[in-house]
Amino acid sequence: MPAWLLQRLEAAGGTVPFRTYMEWVLHDPDQGAYGAGRLRIGPAGDFATAPSLGPEFAALLAPQIADWLAQLAGVPLALVETGPGEGHLALQLAQALAAGWPDLAACTELVLVEPNAGMAERQQATLQGCPMPCRWASFAELAAAPARGVVLAHEVLDALAVERIEWDGALWRQQVVALHGDPAAGPSLRLEPGAPLEPGAAAQLEALGLLPPTPQRPPGWCTELHPGLAPWLAGAAAALEAGPLLVIDYALEAWRYYAPQRSAGTLMAYRSQEASSDPLQEPGRWDLTAHLCLESLLEAGRASGWQLLGQARQGEALLALGLAERLHGLQRGSTADLGALLARREALLRLVDPHALGDFRWVALARGMAEEAPRFSREPQPSATG
Ligand SMILES: C[S@@+](CC[C@H](N)C(=O)[O-])C[C@H]1O[C@@H](n2cnc3c(N)ncnc32)[C@H](O)[C@@H]1O
Repeated sequence: MPAWLLQRLEAAGGTVPFRTYMEWVLHDPDQGAYGAGRLRIGPAGDFATAPSLGPEFAALLAPQIADWLAQLAGVPLALVETGPGEGHLALQLAQALAAGWPDLAACTELVLVEPNAGMAERQQATLQGCPMPCRWASFAELAAAPARGVVLAHEVLDALAVERIEWDGALWRQQVVALHGDPAAGPSLRLEPGAPLEPGAAAQLEALGLLPPTPQRPPGWCTELHPGLAPWLAGAAAALEAGPLLVIDYALEAWRYYAPQRSAGTLMAYRSQEASSDPLQEPGRWDLTAHLCLESLLEAGRASGWQLLGQARQGEALLALGLAERLHGLQRGSTADLGALLARREALLRLVDPHALGDFRWVALARGMAEEAPRFSREPQPSATG
């Protein structure tokens, strides 16, 4: 139990809602895993993400971004990446756009939205030498002069603090993190059912299929709600005059998310390539992440004026964007550097592995632009080479 957390919990009377705890341990500027910039993203870090595997992901995504920027046809344009982690995707996309669409890249500014100063520092180091002009800003700063452009949210909404709720057999309760134990042995942390949910939450639970409670959900059954989504999506909407928002993340339909057999929700902790279902260990040292619920995302999006353009699983999206052709192209590549060819092949296959990254969801929302299905959710086009 770190002293800072003990102090805060004592000051709060011994318990805080799980959502407050998650906010602290991830985003506190001095103690949070992201806030203090402790987490390292990549195969040699705490966990890998698609862009951290190499430039293939950005190379496949770039034509989609270019399509959207061309449709928006205004000057200046913005490519806004939220939650950029190490800055891999921002740099790789800037390189791909500058090489393949130099006219578009020349009139597009790269904007990084990163609330955690510890992570922003590392992004600045990665983006030195970026071929497009880039700057860091908050949604609120962008809202002062909203541009036309594209907003990307790759594995960021799963880092928003979630509310954990628990069924006690009669009522839904908010889960709390509580100090526990005999003071001589040193206090420990425990998850406990707290106050009953506000009556207003019932409508949300009903929409998600959690009311009326069924006998398959015994006392102690718990899951997550996503109160951080609506304000985040409203902030993104205000930051953009017109354009799409592409969310790429772990996500499940409500019937799968809230299925009776998923009795402990989706919350997971990651550190040093290890996964754990215990969110209370070494607070501020582990990444905590919860899946998105697709219906909650779409509903919160609609409420702030986003319309759905299209959605797909990552495997399907990347195939529609030419992944098979890219794999095929590798077979014709020079075998002089066989190691590099095999590494690229491995990275491409990991991106579509249905048991891992291939099951990610791509959801494109838009405001103020034509509702045309994105390239990634159309049928794959036959390649020029057949
Ligand atoms: C899981 S990492 C993803 C990094 C990167 N997008 C990638 O795929 O490699 C989450 C990132 O989102 C940032 N983040 C957390 N909360 C955020 C928020 N409310 N708005 C924007 N970024 C946030 C974290 O600091 C971190 O940079």
